[in-house]
Amino acid sequence: MNRRLGVLISGRGSNLQSIIDAIGSGELDAAIAVVVSNRPEAAGLARAREAGLDTVVLRPTDFATRDEYDATVADVLLRRDVGLVCLAGFMRLVGPPLLNAFPNRILNIHPSLLPAFPGLEAAAQAIAHGVRVSGATVHLVTADLDDGPIVLQAAVPVRDDDTESSLATRILVEEHKLYPAAIAKVLGGRWRLDGRRFVADRS
Ligand code: GAR
Repeated sequence: MNRRLGVLISGRGSNLQSIIDAIGSGELDAAIAVVVSNRPEAAGLARAREAGLDTVVLRPTDFATRDEYDATVADVLLRRDVGLVCLAGFMRLVGPPLLNAFPNRILNIHPSLLPAFPGLEAAAQAIAHGVRVSGATVHLVTADLDDGPIVLQAAVPVRDDDTESSLATRILVEEHKLYPAAIAKVLGGRWRLDGRRFVADRS
């Protein structure tokens, strides 16, 4: 599989950093072809530039429709021969022009054990619900929010004295290990989808 990654961000970019670091250490055999942000002020852009990566900012307000925006993102990625798209805190739904350009080749990371607590402030949702275990999920992206076949998950126990902030911090530590591992698994091939299930291919 083409190991050129396109990483999409909206903010801090700590998951982008974990991918940069995993490639740098040799743990992840891949290359980041481009980092795309929908927000010019995203701190992750500085991390990308620091690492010498190509960056592109595409502001949704500069486009007439969601489809035009997604088609332009797809074009940016295809022109750079990206084989796998990694959403890393990219806070937008992905629409058909991008999904169709990269069928089952878009990953997302989310700070909960999906399907629990999709959407914003997943750690706050977990605390409010009173679950004893939360965690992080990497999944293939579909048109639905934080949905799609699950590649890997990591569990994080919730402590009695946890706040949203303390739980989110411990989940983030797991995210930074989980995302490079999930990307390596997808790039390694030898998997298939059985309905919603992401399964190792024995053939
Ligand atoms: C991460 O916790 C990621 O899982 C979450 O946004 C944060 C981005 O942090 N994504 C979602 O909630 C997607 N629904 P980062 O910019 O430091 O990687």
